[in-house]
Amino acid sequence: MKTIHGIVALALAVACVSGVTTAENKFVGVKRCMACHKIEKMGGLAYAVWEKSPHAMAFETLKSKAAEEIAKKRGLTKPASESPECLKCHVSGGGTAKNVDVSYKMEEGVTCEACHGAASGFIGLHNKKDDESKAKAKAAGLVVGDDVKKVCETCHNSGSPSFKGFKFAEAWAKIEHGGPKK
Ligand code: HEC
Ligand code: HEC
Ligand code: HEC
Ligand code: HEC
Repeated sequence: MKTIHGIVALALAVACVSGVTTAENKFVGVKRCMACHKIEKMGGLAYAVWEKSPHAMAFETLKSKAAEEIAKKRGLTKPASESPECLKCHVSGGGTAKNVDVSYKMEEGVTCEACHGAASGFIGLHNKKDDESKAKAKAAGLVVGDDVKKVCETCHNSGSPSFKGFKFAEAWAKIEHGGPKK
């Protein structure tokens, strides 16, 4: 019985590392997405939206006075910006990801890959319109459509010291972005 509980606990612990991770894929960092997703006719303007969103500041926030106070109250032994307890929701890959590329930077905060999946496996596959390419990209770890809407609550939940509830429609309206202009 004990072992089963152990396994369940372990599975939960893994599930709680926020955002999306696919075992084999590496996080490549947001600069790799910028190249195309800053140009309206290429990948669309998602990067331009993200850059100004709170997600882009999520790591910096951990260096704020407010973060310091939360960390103190919780009795953390390290600064918030070095504590796994905080990094797990404030950076892509949760701050403990071993599966990162050289171009990945924790300082970039909650990037595209926190929601759309670690990208090394799909970045070279996903930029075509046809159904076959789309299916291949999904199989390689790209998270889109209804699946990506489910990712929010892996971080926007009562595990956040500042949590005051989460409503998808309202929250999405603040960070809404899309693909290329057709
Ligand atoms: C070489 C250019 C290029 C790069 C680099 C790139 N993208 Fe894209 N991406 C595109 C294009 C073009 C599309 C639109 C494809 C289409 O017409 O459906 C797209 C579409 C997408 C979509 C929507 C896919 C769908 O099926 O609706 C997501 C999500 C996405 N990109 C995420 C990323 C992320 C995350 C990165 C960085 C890790 C990235 N892209 C890097 C060009 C690129
Ligand atoms: C379960 C995910 C999660 C964890 C763990 C987490 N945060 Fe956050 N944090 C969030 C989210 C999501 C927000 C945006 C506001 C909200 O909905 O809670 C946020 C916002 C913040 C803010 C801005 C607060 C505000 O009022 O605008 C600070 C500061 C902060 N977090 C510090 C921390 C510190 C310090 C830790 C570690 C002790 C931590 N967070 C752990 C998810 C998390
Ligand atoms: C906080 C989570 C989150 C982050 C961060 C994020 N996205 Fe998205 N993205 C979404 C959601 C949710 C949708 C909408 C899915 C839907 O409506 O089908 C979406 C939609 C898209 C689409 C359009 C897909 C389509 O079906 O037309 C593209 C392209 C895209 N994102 C690219 C990016 C890129 C590039 C970045 C980083 C610069 C990024 N996203 C950052 C959650 C996120
Ligand atoms: C990897 C964890 C993570 C995921 C996944 C995530 N967020 Fe966040 N989000 C955060 C953190 C951390 C903050 C606080 C950033 C700050 O203030 O520095 C935040 C802040 C926000 C904010 C601004 C604060 C507010 O409540 O108005 C909005 C809006 C938001 N997120 C929307 C979304 C939506 C929509 C999704 C899903 C499509 C999503 N987030 C997925 C971690 C995450």
